[in-house]
Amino acid sequence: MATAFARNQWYVTAYAGEVGRDLLGRTVLGEPIVLYRTEEDGSVVALSDRCVHRRFPLSASRLDGDRIVCGYHGFTYDTSGACVYVPGQQRIPRTARVTAYPVAEIDSLVWVWIGDPQLADEKLIPRAPHLADPEMVSVRGMEPIDCDYGLLVDNLLDLSHETYLHGGYIGTPEVAETPISTEVDEAAGVVRVSRHMMDAACPPFYSRSTGIEGRITRLQDIEYFAPCLYLLHSRIMPVGRTEPVFRTEITYAITPAGPGKVYDFWAVSRDFAREDDEVTKFLHDFNHTVVMQDVDALNLLQKALDGEPAGYQELSINIDTGGLAARRILARLAAA
Ligand code: FES
Ligand SMILES: [Fe+2]
Repeated sequence: MATAFARNQWYVTAYAGEVGRDLLGRTVLGEPIVLYRTEEDGSVVALSDRCVHRRFPLSASRLDGDRIVCGYHGFTYDTSGACVYVPGQQRIPRTARVTAYPVAEIDSLVWVWIGDPQLADEKLIPRAPHLADPEMVSVRGMEPIDCDYGLLVDNLLDLSHETYLHGGYIGTPEVAETPISTEVDEAAGVVRVSRHMMDAACPPFYSRSTGIEGRITRLQDIEYFAPCLYLLHSRIMPVGRTEPVFRTEITYAITPAGPGKVYDFWAVSRDFAREDDEVTKFLHDFNHTVVMQDVDALNLLQKALDGEPAGYQELSINIDTGGLAARRILARLAAA
């Protein structure tokens, strides 16, 4: 069963660093969007990625100053999406305009509002300040997955899979063995899942980045701001000690691209070994490997589900409490 899309919401569409003077095409909730940054003041523009003439992708076209010139017959659009030039005639048809999407660049993320522009309110955007905090060092990436975005939400809200899918990377037996506590704020659309492991093996992700050799106290506190932003606040310390505390913030943005397609934006931010480029490279490459384990699993899972008869039964247990709450919230947002 596909998870319904929630419109009238902000979605992470790119990292700020991805948007510049090269046209970038992304698809959000099935809507093709072209992104670029203006010469005038460096602000990000998000327009519909289909020329009104014959629907040529504007992302495959070119910029002339802050205007996009369609690469097929030259229809030219300004930053508001209005067509300001058509070839071979003076009169510009009244309907010659592409949608301009509300955009907000916050915490090094480019958020685009999908829905009624009148309702776009930047104050609704959940924050991930660590991504732009000079006291933290971040590595990041994005992987497209061919799966229902609900499968990625499920995956991230239940980290007991770390023990099995990511064993030897970030998983140890204690993750699956330690019960979770879940808190749901239905009205705000926020799900919080905590797992506090007081005496756990230290997986390579943390031993190689922090230098800790023995066992650790490992605190995982998840906050999911439906539909798009997921934060995992991770705190590691040597077992039996209260310091030093190694703080890692793991961020995901879950952006449905279209039916059965999702962008998996991921970032790892840390407050330790900040000058150490080897740690930076290690965390980037290692986390990319971990993300690809999820990507492969979710691509496979979606294929398996596609072959199931309609109305298949699932079996849920305690570890699924957060994921089930997220599904309820997503269903409510989609119906709104
Ligand atoms: S398709 Fe864009 S100008 Fe013809
Ligand atoms: Fe995972």
